[in-house]
Amino acid sequence: MILQADGLRKLYGEFCALDGVSLAVDTGEFVSIVGPNGAGKSTLINILTGVTRPSAGKVRFKDREVGGAGPVRLARLGMARSFQLVQVFPDLTVLETLQAAVVARLGRATRLFASLARDREVQSDALEVAELFGLGDKRHTPARQLPQGDKKLLDIASAFALRPEIILLDEPTSGVSTADKTAIMDTLVTASRRIGLRAIVQVEHDMDIVFAYSDRIIALHQGKVLADGPPATILADQRVMDTVIGRKAVAPGTPSC
Ligand SMILES: Nc1ncnc2c1ncn2[C@@H]1O[C@H](COP(=O)(O)OP(=O)(O)O)[C@@H](O)[C@H]1O
Ligand SMILES: [Mg+2]
Repeated sequence: MILQADGLRKLYGEFCALDGVSLAVDTGEFVSIVGPNGAGKSTLINILTGVTRPSAGKVRFKDREVGGAGPVRLARLGMARSFQLVQVFPDLTVLETLQAAVVARLGRATRLFASLARDREVQSDALEVAELFGLGDKRHTPARQLPQGDKKLLDIASAFALRPEIILLDEPTSGVSTADKTAIMDTLVTASRRIGLRAIVQVEHDMDIVFAYSDRIIALHQGKVLADGPPATILADQRVMDTVIGRKAVAPGTPSC
């Protein structure tokens, strides 16, 4: 078991965004988290990656209690997520974005630009990741000039820049065509094998993509796990298909812990 969460709860004031969520991710797994808007998917990813503190519950990463560890410490331990640097620094080139990701995850953000030029290791690492994601030819292109699909790839690539053991991606292919989504997922899976990534957790809306790439699907609804199983089980579960995937209108309701 590489990542485990037990009884996660998150309150925003009175509102209960997560209500007793438990899950486990094993080595070798590609896990997708699905659910309608507001189900708590991003909150869950934020808690698992140390960005948000849970109101209750525990997160274990590689048999270590990491609740509240913070993203920098978790990155050093081998957990990465997309930092969305593409949107933060649209004028940085592909290579600079990946260098910034490496440096940010090493916790040296304050010396970022002073150290970049001198840090050969950071540079060669960034170039290797760019090539791994098919962005080598565009390494000097500013991020904002990239087509949408390449922007998404750069975002994912920046999560790979520290050679993590696990990555967590929140809607990595949102806003691109199905054909582009498939290309991005294929690149992600190939890159994962090359760097020896041990697990992937993603939030994804496109159920064709979810069913095609996941070993396991966790369906969230109103802050609770509605189902957790392999694609075939989820596909056969009418309640999940209706409620979570939105084939039927969901009655609005405010979950309370
Ligand atoms: N910082 C916040 N403050 C208050 N409410 C929040 C905050 N973040 C998320 N929420 C609420 O928690 C619920 C779950 O949000 P989120 O995790 O973003 O859902 P999802 O990613 O599944 O769409 C939503 O109703 C959202 O409005
Ligand atoms: Mg979300």
